[in-house]
Amino acid sequence: MRSKIVAGNWKMNKTLEEATALSSEIIKLVSEEVKGNAKIIFCTPFPFLLPVKGIIGNSSQVSVGAQNCSEHEAGAYTGEVSASMLKSMVIPYVILGHSERRQYFGEDGKLLAKKIDVVLKHGLTPIFCCGEPLEVRERNEHEQLVKQQVEEGLFHLNEESIRKIVIAYEPVWAIGTGKTATAAQAQEMHSVIRKHLSDRYGKALADNISILYGGSVNAGNAKELFGCADVDGGLVGGASLKAREFVEIIKSI
Ligand code: PGA
Repeated sequence: MRSKIVAGNWKMNKTLEEATALSSEIIKLVSEEVKGNAKIIFCTPFPFLLPVKGIIGNSSQVSVGAQNCSEHEAGAYTGEVSASMLKSMVIPYVILGHSERRQYFGEDGKLLAKKIDVVLKHGLTPIFCCGEPLEVRERNEHEQLVKQQVEEGLFHLNEESIRKIVIAYEPVWAIGTGKTATAAQAQEMHSVIRKHLSDRYGKALADNISILYGGSVNAGNAKELFGCADVDGGLVGGASLKAREFVEIIKSI
């Protein structure tokens, strides 16, 4: 059985005070209202990982994740954060290959494959993002591109390693735009990704990999998106910064 996951991607938002207030409020609401056992992850900016982790305490349901990490082990890389640093802070998850990293920081498939390796080596779970820009969808080449992103980032992994990956399909045109994919569009792409994994690793393994949808998920559309057979949860940006809305999204799974 694959896990249901709702991850909040806070991006570069909030001050320390706001971050601790937000996480405290979500945790309170989750303990009062959330019945299901979906995993909940706060992907916070690096400086807030430990304070937020401290607020979470030893919850079995809620955890923290980073939004990126270096492909290098250690050394003279000013401003970077390594997987071993995250491991030493007991951070279980890290988002890799978010479209904003691909677009603004030039991250490509080759680099992401290295990041995946270093993260897995240190025992963290990568949340690997893929998704097409608008012009690619308009040319009707989205399936091809997303399959290629998955191949470049992940297909060098052996069976034991691929099992540890969480995938997030995030069409770039839906991120932060308020223009979400329809449930049918999401399901179509999730099944394309799962079929591609199945062709490479076999159906049993592909059926066990969680594939999250991301791109303007909100309290109003989450239920329909999460109701799709191959959608195992969400990677939520803007709506994860509002406690009430994020908790409503969690309750939709
Ligand atoms: P959004 O962001 O929910 O604000 O569209 C999603 C993401 O970028 O992960």
